[in-house]
Amino acid sequence: MFKDGLLAGKRILVTGGGSGLGREIAAKYLQLGAALWICGRRVPVLEQTARELMQQHGGSVRTHAVDIREPAAVDAMLGRIWGEDGPLTGLVNCAAGNFISPTQDLSPNGFNAIANTVFHGTFYVTQGVGKRWIAGDQKGSIVSILVTWVHNGSPYVVPSAMSKAGLHVMTKSLAVEWGRHGIRLNAIAPGAFPTEGAAKRLRPGGSFEDAIQKNPMRRTGRMDELQNLAVFLMAEGCEWMTGETISIDGAGALAHGGSFAELDRLTDEDWVRMRALIKAQDDKDRAGRVA
Ligand code: HXC
Repeated sequence: MFKDGLLAGKRILVTGGGSGLGREIAAKYLQLGAALWICGRRVPVLEQTARELMQQHGGSVRTHAVDIREPAAVDAMLGRIWGEDGPLTGLVNCAAGNFISPTQDLSPNGFNAIANTVFHGTFYVTQGVGKRWIAGDQKGSIVSILVTWVHNGSPYVVPSAMSKAGLHVMTKSLAVEWGRHGIRLNAIAPGAFPTEGAAKRLRPGGSFEDAIQKNPMRRTGRMDELQNLAVFLMAEGCEWMTGETISIDGAGALAHGGSFAELDRLTDEDWVRMRALIKAQDDKDRAGRVA
């Protein structure tokens, strides 16, 4: 779909680039000639991903372990990137956290675990990159991975829906504020693209079969579709486009809201089982984290 070397000369940071959608987007950018930085909380995961992507596509993937909830750590990471490698040209905000839960059962820590990463952390990275671009008189492109619930909300994932909706508004607001600096911000609102992190926390023990049946196109997303959209938004050629959040979901959100409303069917016992499955995934992921 794209010509070789389309992204040559670009230096792009993908937060959460060690796994899931972030890894897929990083891989595609690398294949098209960009130099990549990926960051996340798990050093072994970052290093393995960098190794595998460079084996597959060549090029350069550098890693930085960071918890984006910590503003000082975000600033140190961006200082290192600018110092060692020069200014970024692009940022993909992909780092996120989410799990399904009845909202009345969330503790303040549970809410904060999601909001501090998605809402606060994404702002820290976006602001840190933007202010360096403005100070250096450089243009740049930011792509944030959101969800279709930024338009209509979703039950059972309320901290995520609230946080991503905030980023949707950040995208519009900064597109205006930073437009005169040549900085553009767009966002992608994906429907169900199966990844391990999302499957284990949003559909624990289940499958994507229900999402397939409900979707007007009767399928989930294919990773190359998401990759291609992320390339389109990062590449040059349509730079007047900014402040947009583009859904890629087979019209799922238009048809049924794309939300978790069907979890109304779960019993209290089901939720106890769900929480145990989610915890098992969290315990597995915790190995190798910086925080
Ligand atoms: C209720 C829960 C819970 C659950 C954790 N908590 N899991 N509460 N139900 N299932 C509560 C804990 O009890 C604790 O509160 C608090 O949350 C913090 O838990 P920790 O495990 O200590 O937090 P932490 O290690 O920081 O982990 C953060 C996390 C975790 C968000 C909970 O899931 C994570 O790191 N996720 C990253 C990867 C991920 O989520 N991928 C899916 C992304 S999908 P107390 O009060 O007990 O101390 C996505 C978009 C979805 O983001 C779009 C799909 C269409």
